Amino acid sequence: MATPGAFVIFGATGDLARRMLFPSLYFLDADGLLPDRLRIVGAARSVLTDAEFRKQAEGWVRERAGAFFSEKAWESFSKRLSYAAGDSTAPASYKVLVEKLKGAEGGALFYLSTSPTLYIPIVKGLASVGLASPPNGLMVEKPIGNSGRTCDQINSAIAEHFPENRTFRIDHYLGKETVQNLIALRFGNALFEPLWNRYSIDHVQITVAETLGVEGRFGYYNDYGATRDMVQNHLLQLLCLIAMEPPSDMRAGTMHDEKVKVLRALRPIRDSELLEKTARGQYTRGVADGKTVPAYAEEEGGKPSDTETFVAMCAHVDNWRWAGVPFYLRTGKRMPIRHSQIVIEFRDVPHSIFTGAPLMPNRLIITLQPEESISLTIMNKTPTLSQGGYELQPLSLNLSLLDAFKGEKRRRIAYERLLLEAISDNSTLFVRRDEADAAWLWVDRIIEGWARTGLKPTSYPAGSWGPAGAFALTERNGHSWHE
Ligand code: BG6
Repeated sequence: MATPGAFVIFGATGDLARRMLFPSLYFLDADGLLPDRLRIVGAARSVLTDAEFRKQAEGWVRERAGAFFSEKAWESFSKRLSYAAGDSTAPASYKVLVEKLKGAEGGALFYLSTSPTLYIPIVKGLASVGLASPPNGLMVEKPIGNSGRTCDQINSAIAEHFPENRTFRIDHYLGKETVQNLIALRFGNALFEPLWNRYSIDHVQITVAETLGVEGRFGYYNDYGATRDMVQNHLLQLLCLIAMEPPSDMRAGTMHDEKVKVLRALRPIRDSELLEKTARGQYTRGVADGKTVPAYAEEEGGKPSDTETFVAMCAHVDNWRWAGVPFYLRTGKRMPIRHSQIVIEFRDVPHSIFTGAPLMPNRLIITLQPEESISLTIMNKTPTLSQGGYELQPLSLNLSLLDAFKGEKRRRIAYERLLLEAISDNSTLFVRRDEADAAWLWVDRIIEGWARTGLKPTSYPAGSWGPAGAFALTERNGHSWHE
């Protein structure tokens, strides 16, 4: 497929476009990574001239780029920009777009940075003027529905016009450098593979903790909750990268095939197991990031709600490699610190010859955010003389990626990588439809189970690590969260 001649952003004046999309495109251009002929069209309701739109976009890019803003790079980038005003539910808007896209060789890529309720109307609008067929492509982001059923409805409407290989479903975690490094860690090193299985690994923990609350998104979040907002996509994608079999190459189809096998191997959690294998929480008033913050139920006018702002789960991947190995997942808002971390805990030594304090199992700790690091805890002899032999203590071999790549000028926005991949027609870092379906299937069953059994979130103070049930979840198996 040829590279597109135009990149069109619907919702061009919205928050995502301002903070992520335009700055990302600007940086790609400044680094010489955009095709020369690529035009960028912003589409939104506000009535603006091209010049007015460019002025607004300059403000967004300046703000995001800070010291990395270059007048020269902006001047060149701004020449690519134009604007198409219109209501995306009005047929006339699409005629304007057709005019704008005249002569765009290689077709156009449409990015829907709008409310998901507009996804289907936009696809239909594009189809009505002949813009919804290859080589044109579509980029969409979650929430694509709020259940497997509604996700399928939207995907089916898209698939009537855009084939799967021209549909790029974004999970922005896959655009993170640190998440891609998981692939490098596993498949670029021979060291781990012989140990990467049930014989050596005792359990896995995946934590994505945020100090933020719902940040003005109560309306959306209250319908979703942590399970749909984070587990169905980001956490399960991380689980896939940890649990998947080594793919034979990096092609999109090969990678997706391996990931989907993991998702399909996730053992369904039965209603009778929900209390033991899941914990839902909702934050109450507390202190987060050094500030006193309101309870979730007091956000935006105070509506009592059963939405979880924290969830922990114990998952199992039922296959030969992982049989019997718990994968603990945990994510929450208003946690004590912001960090995303994967902990691989290895098995205990089969027999200890040391008589002192018990040995600690080795842990491979991969921190994805805020600073990327990899560390391996190993038992060491304490350099002391003591009667009766050895004293041992766990110490870490640490690799700080921040220090290793000190020369790198700036931290890339995850969207830079994703936009570039879509423009280059590579779907490896996007989510294939069957992956999304398999992830929903597992998550839907849990959410429906909570409704069937009346299991409500329990409270946790903002600034803590979640409700008591989250600790019981690991302790029941003799494990504890790494904090
Ligand atoms: C989004 C969720 O997908 O990811 C947000 O909708 C969440 O609720 C965000 O805050 C977290 O992303 P990051 O990149 O800050 O870890």
